[in-house]
Amino acid sequence: MLVFAREVFVCKCSTDVVRSDPNATGLSARVRFIKGTEADIDRVDRKHHGDEDIAQMRQRLERGDHWMIGDVDDRMVAYTWLHHRDRAAYPSLPGCEVRLRADTGYGYDAWTDPDLRGHGLRRVGFLEELNILRDMGMNWEASFFVKHQLDGATRSLGSAGIEIVPIWRVYLQPDRTLAAERLLDDDAAVPAFLEPTG
Ligand SMILES: CC(C)(COP(=O)(O)OP(=O)(O)OC[C@H]1O[C@@H](n2cnc3c(N)ncnc32)[C@H](O)[C@@H]1OP(=O)(O)O)[C@@H](O)C(=O)NCCC(=O)NCCS
Repeated sequence: MLVFAREVFVCKCSTDVVRSDPNATGLSARVRFIKGTEADIDRVDRKHHGDEDIAQMRQRLERGDHWMIGDVDDRMVAYTWLHHRDRAAYPSLPGCEVRLRADTGYGYDAWTDPDLRGHGLRRVGFLEELNILRDMGMNWEASFFVKHQLDGATRSLGSAGIEIVPIWRVYLQPDRTLAAERLLDDDAAVPAFLEPTG
């Protein structure tokens, strides 16, 4: 359930971060992260996930993506998906795709239970996924941020010591073709490119 947007930012975050957020309180201190498996699909809240979402989750598990689930007292309260293949696409902007270096993982489709948003679950989840990627040997996580979430995410994640570095701005032009603006000339970053749009 990637968010639809006309404008997204391809960002990188270093995986050189603390193990856990020392300022976490309440739910964000109680959440425990596990690696999801097929069996966890039965625990997905069907109030917020339709048949298509469930089918997509199965496909992601089949292709080997890492499903990071946040549990509070056995309730699935949040999740994120990770992989470290060599490309990552943003399907709601067809043609928007980045190439990932071997030391760069990819995090996508973060979700927090709507009843529990604003409790810092995403913040501790992001920290956790950076640690998972570091343990896999990755130095960076690449992710897409939609324009209207970038400032809030930068502020929120920054408070846990996570620096979001925007590298590309990718946007739909009035004629509906994609364009990309390079924001940072950093070859150590996520080398990104755009596939031609049909
Ligand atoms: C975005 C989302 C995952 C944030 O989860 P959350 O657990 O409520 O986040 P937290 O409580 O840790 O932090 C809230 C803060 O996150 C910020 N934020 C917004 N989008 C964010 C993002 N994509 N990543 C990280 N933080 C984000 C908010 O601005 C807020 O900042 P503030 O506290 O300074 O006001 C949740 O709202 C959600 O599931 N939304 C629907 C799906 C979605 O948009 N996913 C992200 C794109 S793939």
